[in-house]
Amino acid sequence: MEKFVINGGTPLFGEVNISGAKNAAVAIIPAAILIEDECIIENVPDIKDVRIILDMLCSMGAKVEKIDANTVKIDATSLDTYIVGKEKASKMRASYYMLGALCSRFKKAVVPPPGGCNFGIRPIDQHIKGFEALNCKTEIKHGNIELDASDIKGGQVYFDVVSVGATINIMLAAVKAPGVTIMENAAKEPHIVDVANFLNSMGANIKGAGTDVIKITGVEKLHGGVYGVIPDQIEAGSYMFAAAATRGDVTIKNVIPKHLDAITSKFVEMGVDVEEGDDYVRVNAKGALNKINVKTLPYPGFPTDLQPPMVALLTTVSGTSIVTESVWDSRFQYVSELEKMGAKITVNGQVAVVEGGKSLTGADVCATDLRAGAGMIIAALSANGKSSICNIHHIDRGYENIEQKLISLGAKIIRTDD
Ligand code: EPU
Repeated sequence: MEKFVINGGTPLFGEVNISGAKNAAVAIIPAAILIEDECIIENVPDIKDVRIILDMLCSMGAKVEKIDANTVKIDATSLDTYIVGKEKASKMRASYYMLGALCSRFKKAVVPPPGGCNFGIRPIDQHIKGFEALNCKTEIKHGNIELDASDIKGGQVYFDVVSVGATINIMLAAVKAPGVTIMENAAKEPHIVDVANFLNSMGANIKGAGTDVIKITGVEKLHGGVYGVIPDQIEAGSYMFAAAATRGDVTIKNVIPKHLDAITSKFVEMGVDVEEGDDYVRVNAKGALNKINVKTLPYPGFPTDLQPPMVALLTTVSGTSIVTESVWDSRFQYVSELEKMGAKITVNGQVAVVEGGKSLTGADVCATDLRAGAGMIIAALSANGKSSICNIHHIDRGYENIEQKLISLGAKIIRTDD
């Protein structure tokens, strides 16, 4: 089993390039099923989740060609099944996008329950509510979600919770459904806009993505084309936290600074200098920082996926900071790992109280999920001494070349095979 060994206590300096957004890519790739033509997708991150979804398309008959590490050509004309295999679906959360994509393509889908990070119950009731609003029938049979979209037509859905996955899934289903679909209380994350831009560039008619009302007018056919995925907001944020936690000075390049506003504003409150350019942010964290309180929220609020990196940073800040998780029920499991490094954190339900300021010390810890893994790396980079982080397969799901990028910033990190 591979692990990272990190010798911490060294401030990070330099420049780092951000890859394409994981959560956009894992939706855009299934969206390519809607196109019976060739499409070229650029700035695709070379990460495990992307390899899994590409492999899933291949195994269903699509032609997938890697042009280079970050460019992929997909021609789904030859895709010949609406059934997704159990083993592949269970490897990642985004396999649920096959429901919307296959429903659009074949008016039928059989998809096993998705896998992905475990932070409590991850229901899909809002996806089902959306499909039913589009006149689709859904049923759980033999442990699979079966979707019959033979009478699909545009409809109106009001989501009871803001859900990234449900918003994208219903967008995929509605693109070629006759009539008009309106989604209210839709999610507004940058990757929602990216998926809509991808589909529009291939001939779809989606308006309002990035607001909480999205209107889709069904079209008969999509055409092929070339599209570039947006930069990864969460990867960029993770490097911002690594820079701040080590009191370094790092320029994070190839980003959309607007997507990072929630992080930047918290950094400013903490006394971290953030300089914004057209496509970069520079994070310079010298000296003592201020404690803060933060609550995770759907976009444009502070992202839940950066909650573990935020907690790791707050362990380095004197005083009591309060972190409230309002998106997921159970996203503080990793705290016991941080405690092995000497962190003082009390968790009560959705709230973590961080008593920070005493240096962490290196320890043997585990990545309990993808973003918790990023939090562990950030904590280990700021800690005195050597840490080892196990279960790094979680981290490989979502961060491209993470150790090379960190080494280029001066981090002492190696990947070893135990
Ligand atoms: N929810 C429901 N019913 C549903 C769907 C969601 O109650 O039908 C609830 C969830 O239980 C949760 C909240 O709504 O409390 C938000 O869930 P959402 O559907 O937005 O999450 P998701 O689509 O499953 C995506 C990202 C996650 C990220 C969340 C929130 C992908 C592949 N995953 O998940 O990213 O945490 O949005 O922003 O896009 C990650 O990248 O590490 C990751 C976990």
